[in-house]
Amino acid sequence: MNVERGIGGLRELLAARRSTSIGLVPTMGALHEGHLSLLHAARDECDTVVMSLFVNPAQFADESDLDRYPHDEERDFELARDAGVDVVFAPSADEMYPPGFQTWVEVTELGSMLEGVHRPGHFRGVATIVLKLFAIVRPTALYFGQKDAQQVEVIRRLIRDFALDVELRVLPTVRDADGLALSSRNARLSRSERERALVLPRALATGDPEAARTLLESSNGLVVDYVERVDFDPPVLAGAVRVGSTRLIDNIVLEGDST
Ligand code: PAF
Repeated sequence: MNVERGIGGLRELLAARRSTSIGLVPTMGALHEGHLSLLHAARDECDTVVMSLFVNPAQFADESDLDRYPHDEERDFELARDAGVDVVFAPSADEMYPPGFQTWVEVTELGSMLEGVHRPGHFRGVATIVLKLFAIVRPTALYFGQKDAQQVEVIRRLIRDFALDVELRVLPTVRDADGLALSSRNARLSRSERERALVLPRALATGDPEAARTLLESSNGLVVDYVERVDFDPPVLAGAVRVGSTRLIDNIVLEGDST
């Protein structure tokens, strides 16, 4: 497995592989089973697997959230190697945002609802970095998790609007045995916070926005940011709650619901 820090080096490395299929799995590190499922799918489906590892400052509205984001590069490299990744692209912030950087991608409507209300600028940061990664790696397939349903929808829109020649592959949310969707932020939960957080997947599992809201609002120690049915492709029941200082999002796909 190669680790590349520079855009030039990565391009050189990929030059010989241009005639093959290239899968890109964008990550911010702190890999868990959810990321591994994306890496395994990319390994099965593509000749070359590139994983990016970049904690993108532009998508963190809250500086303390960025500072607290878990980092363990060596562990992530190890997991990536075990998953059969060919190249990890792990650039510095200066490599991705060189001095004078001022070009941003805004997915206007989709980026300003739900998460966009609570994390202004978040999807501008996501869309910009994903487009830049796309331009650098030029993958044939891009891999994302359904856990971040709105992110998937934003990227789907970006691909359509800019006519990007790439297949979007979306893999199901991976959950712990207790039902909590895997997230790098789960590590911040104390035992009692985790217990409280479990109401989120249970509420969403009702499949009904009203029932889910009632359950969430009647639970102690949770602040509900939103719980809504959203007409994404596919439609989802999405929710976001705060447990202590940790914010968690989750969604379930509303199967067979085409309205
Ligand atoms: O989902 C994530 O980890 C990030 O939003 C992504 C797609 C890697 C962009 O920084």
